[in-house]
Amino acid sequence: MEQGISIRAIGGGRVKKEETIQALAQELEDVKNFMDSVIQSIGSGIIITGMNDTITYINRAGERLSGYSREDVINKPFSIFALREKQSDIHAFFDNPDDHTTRREGWMRRKDHTEFPVGFSMNDHVNVKGERIGKIVIFRDLTNVYKIQEEILRMDRLVSLGKLASGIAHELRNPLAGIKTTAQALSEEMPKDDPKREYLNRITREIDRLNDLLKTFFSFAKPQELNLVYCHIREVINEIIPFLFKEIADQGIRFNESYDPELPKIKVDKAQMHQAFLNLFLNAIQAMPRGGELKIEVTPTTLQSSDGLKQNFVKIIISDTGKGIPPHIIQKIFDPFFTTKPKGIGLGLSITYQIIKKHGGTIKVESEWGKGTSFIINLPEALENP
Ligand SMILES: Nc1ncnc2c1ncn2[C@@H]1O[C@H](COP(=O)(O)OP(=O)(O)OP(=O)(O)O)[C@@H](O)[C@H]1O
Ligand SMILES: [Mg+2]
Repeated sequence: MEQGISIRAIGGGRVKKEETIQALAQELEDVKNFMDSVIQSIGSGIIITGMNDTITYINRAGERLSGYSREDVINKPFSIFALREKQSDIHAFFDNPDDHTTRREGWMRRKDHTEFPVGFSMNDHVNVKGERIGKIVIFRDLTNVYKIQEEILRMDRLVSLGKLASGIAHELRNPLAGIKTTAQALSEEMPKDDPKREYLNRITREIDRLNDLLKTFFSFAKPQELNLVYCHIREVINEIIPFLFKEIADQGIRFNESYDPELPKIKVDKAQMHQAFLNLFLNAIQAMPRGGELKIEVTPTTLQSSDGLKQNFVKIIISDTGKGIPPHIIQKIFDPFFTTKPKGIGLGLSITYQIIKKHGGTIKVESEWGKGTSFIINLPEALENP
């Protein structure tokens, strides 16, 4: 009887222990699942390697950013990512080379062998005894960060050049006005049939030309307030096409336009938009001295910003079949005063860029040397006043 009780007691203890173990195992499983879902839902890529630098783990973001699947990389050497650090003087100065946890910047290679910029940190992976058993690499794609940095730099350059241009333009305007009035006074005193009158006319013409140039400088330097109106992009384009008819006809250019019937309205400063598109059309025409095709295609599009918000845009593609832009200069074409034309000032595209940006839009270029160029502009949809 006693034995029976004790056996039952022992038996009861075993059942309890098993229950506890089961509960602990469940808890452990829950914690594991929780950790796993946290790690999987993190936007940064995580790669863990063993001592021999072979990959033992990659999270979902790591797969997405690198283009590799888990199966592709497990047991492969970490070197397949070709991670290399960017040389940065500032970082080298501040960072402690012995500190393995420092955030660094560099380049990583995707499965398709393209490289992308990353911000990364590399930490030792240690076991419970504190021994090093590999490393943990956490990385983020910096492509968009770099793009934004570049845009800020470009805007910065535009602003400082704008200030310089406005200073020079201002200083030149008064003496020019003085020269013009003097020339006019001289002309009034001169007999009508004096052959020297032609010299004065030439002076006046050149002064007018300089004044026009200064006006361009001013519009670049002191961007005017936006006088926004609701309209259709087609209206804006139609208002400038007549100014281009002569060039288009003279150079034997075919002009094609296509507008999607479902375009949203936009809110723009028409005068500034005229200037922005005129610059693009003139460049296209100048790129086709022996004819070709100038095309404008307008469609609605939806874009997602980096914070996941969707916005409707009007997408305008202006393309030509001209000489194209060589790859080594394509980075510079939006810079003020960059020109490859003997009589160019190089302000056309930087003004266009500024105007599109001010309207909350984007502009980019695609070009193939010898085949042609396309400028792709996105302007945000505007909702009509309530
Ligand atoms: N459609 C195009 N096809 C080929 N090259 C182009 C095209 N658009 C721009 N470019 C290149 O970009 C450069 C800069 O253009 P941008 O309009 O800013 O200045 P520009 O046309 O040279 O002078 P301007 O101030 O008179 O406009 C041009 O000199 C040309 O080399
Ligand atoms: Mg131009």
